[in-house]
Amino acid sequence: MTVAQHHLQVKDNSDAVARAAADMFTRLAQEAVEERGRFTVALSGGSTPRLLYRLLASDAYRDRVPWDRIVFFFGDERWVPPTDDSSNYKLANDELFAKVGVDPANVFPVPTVGISPGEAADQYEQTLVEVFGIGQMEMPSFDLIFLGMGDDGHTASLFPGTDACHERERLVVAQWVDKVNMYRITLSPPVLQNARNVVFMVTGADKAETLKEVVHGPLNIDMYPSQLLREAKGEVTWLVDKAAAKLLEG
Ligand code: 6PG
Repeated sequence: MTVAQHHLQVKDNSDAVARAAADMFTRLAQEAVEERGRFTVALSGGSTPRLLYRLLASDAYRDRVPWDRIVFFFGDERWVPPTDDSSNYKLANDELFAKVGVDPANVFPVPTVGISPGEAADQYEQTLVEVFGIGQMEMPSFDLIFLGMGDDGHTASLFPGTDACHERERLVVAQWVDKVNMYRITLSPPVLQNARNVVFMVTGADKAETLKEVVHGPLNIDMYPSQLLREAKGEVTWLVDKAAAKLLEG
């Protein structure tokens, strides 16, 4: 991937990355609602999004966002109950949905209770089909998908060396991940690639070496699944802090 095909924005620190992400979210939400009547977004997991959620719930942003016209999905989920502190849904609910009063009917968590991981993937896939009104072989086109990147190059729950990285037909995959010793439910590569806008948020020096390989290195999606977004159809924006960007060229 040449960075020119993607938009790379290097920010001073993680707060500045969160502010840039909040600005993009707000702008894209307003544009989507104006053009199509709603805004469909898939939230990323991990710890980085916490700053973004807190900003969006703050006085600086909350009144600029058409919350009642937004449909929230998750790019991936850990195989834990929604009450578990490691749940990506719990983080978003505690730090954003509950604070701004998002209607729960507009939030689609990955189901992780009382079913198997495979059944959860099937159900989440069916929910996507229904909410996006697509045919069985079509891919949903999210207005925005937020993604993070692990220091091993994974994104969403597409981890190095896993079969999920090679899924090209299903919308949602249940994948056992040795590295985290749990099942993960993840949007598949074609769904990520089909978004109108993808925004990566990557911060911290521990990701600098991997980010250099993902951005500038030879294509190797089994080692660096984040490189799957080189095939993205829409706009890909990398919001990174100086620490993570320190080994990037140019
Ligand atoms: C997850 C995520 C994952 C995350 C990266 C980065 O469920 O863990 O979806 O892809 O975005 O691991 O995580 P941090 O933001 O915590 O570094």
